[in-house]
Amino acid sequence: MTRIARKVWIWFGTAVIAVALASQVVPYGRDHANPPVTREPAWDSPGTRELAKRACFDCHSSETEWPVYASIAPVSWLVQHDVTEGRGALNFSEWHRAQEGAKDASQEVLQREMPPATYRFVHAHARLTAAEMERLANGLVKTLGVSAAEEQQEREQ
Ligand code: HEC
Repeated sequence: MTRIARKVWIWFGTAVIAVALASQVVPYGRDHANPPVTREPAWDSPGTRELAKRACFDCHSSETEWPVYASIAPVSWLVQHDVTEGRGALNFSEWHRAQEGAKDASQEVLQREMPPATYRFVHAHARLTAAEMERLANGLVKTLGVSAAEEQQEREQ
């Protein structure tokens, strides 16, 4: 490596480290708030809740388990974004209010849209077998099914 090339690399490396350190100062994604659980849906069985807890609760409840790396930017920003958006669409811990996502939950599971692939990649506990997906989807239909969706819509009015 020429001296110039080495200098460029050192300069580049220093810049990368400086940006990485500076980004830790950004407050977004650091508070890891878990608001109180106000009310959960009337689960059809403990098994459904268990599966939902494994695969959905990190982003769709107030019982998020914040991993250590969720304190390190820029991963923390991605995690915070997922949790904020996820809770906004569907929050199993805030069943006192209308939950737009309730009617789509079982479909999201069957179509393998949820939990998101990147999350499944990182979290082994969220990788459901075909049988578990089936059980969760059925349980969600029973728990949040048509009547539950209607009840939610009434609340929205
Ligand atoms: C890693 C975080 C994460 C996990 C885990 C997760 N979700 Fe989501 N979910 C999101 C985000 C972010 C959104 C909102 C953006 C979107 O629609 O992609 C969302 C949206 C949804 C919606 C609304 C979709 C719509 O278009 O109405 C439903 C329903 C849903 N998720 C169900 C589930 C279910 C059921 C599970 C567990 C099997 C689950 N999610 C697991 C992050 C997650």
